[in-house]
Amino acid sequence: MKNIMVSGCGGKMGRTLSNYICSLAYYKLVAGVDPKLAGHSIKEIAATADDFKISGSVKEGLNSTKVDIVIDFTAPSVVVGNAVECLNSKTNILIGTTGISYEDQNMLDELAKKNNTSIMIVPNFAIGAILMMNFAKIAAKFMKSAEIIELHHDTKVDKPSGTAIKTRKAMLEATGRTSEEKNSDVIPIHSVRLPGLVAHQEVIFGDLGQTLTIRHDTCNRDSFMPGIAMALKQMGTFTGLRVGLDIDSNH
Ligand SMILES: NC(=O)c1ccc[n+]([C@@H]2O[C@H](COP(=O)([O-])OP(=O)(O)OC[C@H]3O[C@@H](n4cnc5c(N)ncnc54)[C@H](O)[C@@H]3O)[C@@H](O)[C@H]2O)c1
Repeated sequence: MKNIMVSGCGGKMGRTLSNYICSLAYYKLVAGVDPKLAGHSIKEIAATADDFKISGSVKEGLNSTKVDIVIDFTAPSVVVGNAVECLNSKTNILIGTTGISYEDQNMLDELAKKNNTSIMIVPNFAIGAILMMNFAKIAAKFMKSAEIIELHHDTKVDKPSGTAIKTRKAMLEATGRTSEEKNSDVIPIHSVRLPGLVAHQEVIFGDLGQTLTIRHDTCNRDSFMPGIAMALKQMGTFTGLRVGLDIDSNH
């Protein structure tokens, strides 16, 4: 049995996730962090959890009980500080929060290695979105040009989305064009933010007399949960940073 702490437990993802963790056999929700709900009972969020008070910071949460893995769904402005706190206390951290820079990723990789811990950053836990990225990588080798359109709800903080950035990077690497990574004219990303949307992405390829469109739609936040369960199984099996979910290793 592994003890889980959800960082950002009062947010849209944190609430769905806290309930989901309570439904899993091998994992127990033992702590939750959210400054806006500090001191409240976890039962306000996850009815099935054993009762505990929500902590106001990751440090406080880690000190409150024994935690094996932290899962973070917070905001780009706080996630790196949360991760540093976890790694310094030798706790594995799985991050769904998007918008972490490459510089911070490198810093976190080094810190995790120094503390012999695992950190995984997964910009999109939806299995269909991961397949979309894999298919886009294959298509990029055969089609001349491509553009990415990512569409999200209007409260999403970061732009472009982590999924779009990761898709573009994978397509560039698949075609040996890593040097063009920062040139936004190569595989441009278009961002749409509108109420009513959840998380959607299209990769449109164009070539002589034809186009190919690969599209993924997230209809609700439950879509992310199976991917999180898959990632949890991999936590602690490696040292340092992994970016993206390896869906092949579970099959
Ligand atoms: N990887 C994925 O598959 C995936 C899926 C959906 C959303 N996301 C990302 O997850 C993040 C959260 O999304 P959301 O829609 O739940 O946002 P949200 O704004 O609804 O929730 C974020 C929560 O974090 C809390 N918070 C703020 N500072 C904190 C701190 N220092 N420590 C702990 N908690 C803190 C806030 O009070 C809030 O309740 C975003 O970056 C979003 O892009 C990723």
